[in-house]
Formats: sequence, structure tokens, C-alpha cells
Amino acid sequence: MNYKELIKKMKENEHIISMTPVDRIVEIGHSAGMNSDSAVLDLCCGYGEMLKIWHEVFDIRGIGIDICSEFIEVGKKRIAENAVSDVTLIEADIFKWQTDEKFDYVCLSGEDFGGFKSTIELLEKYVKPNGKLIIGTRYSKVEEPPKELIEFEGETLPLIEINRIIRSKGYYITSMATDTQAEWERYIMWSAKRHLNDLRKSPENQPLYEWCDKWYDMYFYYRRPYEGYVTVVIEKL
Ligand SMILES: C[S@@+](CC[C@H](N)C(=O)[O-])C[C@H]1O[C@@H](n2cnc3c(N)ncnc32)[C@H](O)[C@@H]1O
Repeated sequence: MNYKELIKKMKENEHIISMTPVDRIVEIGHSAGMNSDSAVLDLCCGYGEMLKIWHEVFDIRGIGIDICSEFIEVGKKRIAENAVSDVTLIEADIFKWQTDEKFDYVCLSGEDFGGFKSTIELLEKYVKPNGKLIIGTRYSKVEEPPKELIEFEGETLPLIEINRIIRSKGYYITSMATDTQAEWERYIMWSAKRHLNDLRKSPENQPLYEWCDKWYDMYFYYRRPYEGYVTVVIEKL
């Protein structure tokens, strides 16, 4: 086994705050036709890792926007360390950031502003007429998810409902990548470790103890059995 490659992949996984496996992110870029002429906008990009990967594999040009200074700072460092050119990460609120540019691919993964339909409408503002939208979202593995999951997460639709919304907006799904248990385990523990670090710094923070317990309970009771994560590429005829 090539351990150096394995560690590189683990580092990439650690910097993707969603449940889409790295191999599938590459696959999606490939099947969606990304190449050196592609301009990609990633809203709520986190560390900007998807853009970094797509640049390294397909030579795309990318812009990533995220409100979290820590994520943008770490992302910029990773881009510099890996000698990635043509990926720009910007710390901004996506609702305040403005551009006149239109992109070949517009992406939003892992954040939800008023439901799946609103996400499509938000991304459409930035896409070229024949461009593609890439959306990563949680979904319910069952027709009627437990009310505890909805209370915790908000809208969690089965895939058939997500597809209905996509069709109602005139799009078709042309690439799709679902999660694996490994990605969920990595994500849940990534977030838990951040909270435990905060608790070490302020051990008197009672609400944070309660949140940590809830985080594990929700995962083992409801999220692991009922919740999935899917990334879709959608396009019009
Ligand atoms: C679950 S993370 C997903 C990050 C990234 N898309 C990925 O897959 O690695 C959601 C991201 O949305 C960002 N975010 C939330 N609200 C935002 C806003 N109004 N403007 C910009 N970024 C926002 C958060 O800071 C966080 O990085």
C-alpha cells in the first residue's frame, strides 16, 4: 500500500465538511465535464477543498466563498502548500458578496438556506445559460423520517422528493454521489473533537456539555439509521 497517498487522501477527507467521499468528488467533476476552461463558484466552500481537488485533477479555475475566517485561513494555507494556482478563497457572507461574473459550475454543499428549491434559485443567479449546478444535501433514507430528526435538522426529504423539486425547476440529475458510513463517522467525530477542544478551554460551559451529549445521541439514534447525504449535478436540456 502507498501510505503517502493514503495520508494525502485522509488529509483531503479531513478538509471536506460533508459526507461526499473524495473519489466521488473527482468522479463528479469528471462526469460533469470539468476541464481547464471551466470556471467554478463554490458558495459556502468551507476549506475550499473541493475546488482544490478539482483544480489539481481538471485544472479548473475556482472561487470559494465562506463566512468562517478559520476555514478560509486554513484553506488558503493548504492552497499555498499544495502550490495550487487559480483558486481564490474569499471570507464573506454569500448574501453580501457580489459579482457580475457567470460560472460554468455553481456549487453549494452542506448548507441549507430555506430548502432545496431555494438553493437551486440561489445558485441560478451565478450560472451561465448552459452551466450546471452542484448541490450537496442531507436526505432521508425513509419516506417519513422521525420527528426528532426533523426537529434537529429541519427539512430532510427522501431522494424521490428531491428529484421532484429538481424536475419542477426544469433540471435533470446527470451525476450523483451518495455518502458512506466512513464519511459520516469522520464528520461526526470532526465536529465532536472541535466541541471537546472548546470544553477543555472553558470547562464551566454547561450548555456545551449538553450539546455534546445531544450530538452523539442524535447520531446514534437517528442520523446513522435514517439520514443520508447526496451530491447531485443538475442541468437543463
Ligand atoms: C457543512 S459546511 C460545508 C463546507 C463545504 N461546502 C464542504 O463541503 O466542505 C457549511 C459551510 O457553510 C458556511 N456558511 C454558512 N452560512 C454562510 C453564509 N451566509 N455565507 C458564507 N458561508 C456560510 C459555514 O461557515 C460552513 O463552512
